[in-house]
Amino acid sequence: MDKIIIHGGKPLKGEVTLSGAKNAVLPIMAASLLVGGTTHISRVPDLRDTRTMIKLLELVGAKTHLKGNDLWIDSEHVDTPVAPYDLVKTMRASFYVLGPLLARFGETKVSLPGGCAWGPRPVDYHLRGLELLGAKVTLEKGYIHAKAKRLKGNHIRFDFPSVGATGNILMAAVTAHGTTVIENAACEPEIVQLCQFLNLMGGKITGIGTHKISVEGVKELSPSDVSVIPDRIEAGTFLIAGAALGEVTVLGGEPGHLKVLLEKLEQTGAKIKISGKKISVRKSDVILPVDVTTAVFPGYPTDLQAQWIALMTIAKGDSVVTDTVYHDRFSHVPELNRLGAEIQVSDNVACIKGRKHLVGAPVMSTDIRASASLIVGGLMAQGKTEISRVYHIDRGYEKIEEKFNSLGADITRLN
Ligand code: EPU
Repeated sequence: MDKIIIHGGKPLKGEVTLSGAKNAVLPIMAASLLVGGTTHISRVPDLRDTRTMIKLLELVGAKTHLKGNDLWIDSEHVDTPVAPYDLVKTMRASFYVLGPLLARFGETKVSLPGGCAWGPRPVDYHLRGLELLGAKVTLEKGYIHAKAKRLKGNHIRFDFPSVGATGNILMAAVTAHGTTVIENAACEPEIVQLCQFLNLMGGKITGIGTHKISVEGVKELSPSDVSVIPDRIEAGTFLIAGAALGEVTVLGGEPGHLKVLLEKLEQTGAKIKISGKKISVRKSDVILPVDVTTAVFPGYPTDLQAQWIALMTIAKGDSVVTDTVYHDRFSHVPELNRLGAEIQVSDNVACIKGRKHLVGAPVMSTDIRASASLIVGGLMAQGKTEISRVYHIDRGYEKIEEKFNSLGADITRLN
């Protein structure tokens, strides 16, 4: 089993080019199933999750070709609208094929995702939304079986602006009969890009980037080309590491996607410089403690909560990090505590007592962002940190050791 070995305490300095966003490319790949013909996606990050989605697209009958960071998906002969448990259990985002397969074929079977490392993560909004569009949705032997000759537009209001449910309903509604209005929709940049991509295919979506999205159903779509937006979570991970360990510049970023993180970094005393798509951070001599509460976009992202906690472990003072999006996403905390951090969790709140330094130790990664926080922790810690179960990191970060090492880190991988 792969392990990552970090010899920590080395200063970081330099530039890193960002990859395309995992959470933007996955729904776009699913959307390519809406219509026959070839979709070309550029800036596709080479990740375990994008490879899992490629596998799923091929299982339903699409032909794919991946060359570097370019992916071609030919959906002409898709003929098996079924997403099996074996794939869905390894990647919940597989559930994104539900909307497009139902819209195109009038019937689909997609395995119901199980729980995940940090709680139940239900899909009730997705299913209720599809029912409101006229689908008959049943659970059969662990699979969601959804049926509808042609979906019909309707008013849908989510209790919480779910990213995944918004994406699924958008893809289902784009060819529905009539207009669908999604209230309390997600407005994350990844959803904005999905809307724009669907419009490039011929969709009629308005209200993009707001919490009220309207979709006027169209009869036909045609395949389109798209370049994936930069990964704001990857950007944030490198910037947080820079604020702990030196001076880091991320290239090809969207500062507008990172506003709250950049404000929080400044509050730690770090210096931020933005020049077009170049964002730099320089650490301050004393890292001040800063509280963070996660929220939907444009708030502080839950996907950067674990990395922030890692930074706060060496702040001069105490801080509080609250996750309001997920209430139990703290599996990194006991592992960071193995490095000498002093963090206590109660419900969805982590209280962190800043320490002078961390000390390397063997730790285990439990999910994508927890792994990223352990890498940041290991880079900050004195001595050797050994992270096991690193396949989690490969799900969401492209060439992470290579990128950190180019900044002066000492990370190696043992196979
Ligand atoms: N929720 C429900 N019912 C639903 C759907 C969501 O109760 O039917 C709840 C969830 O339990 C959660 C909240 O709504 O408390 C938000 O969940 P959301 O649906 O927005 O999350 P998601 O679509 O499953 C995506 C990202 C996650 C990211 C969240 C929040 C992808 C593939 N995944 O998940 O990314 O944390 O949005 O921003 O886009 C990651 O990249 O590491 C990751 C987990």
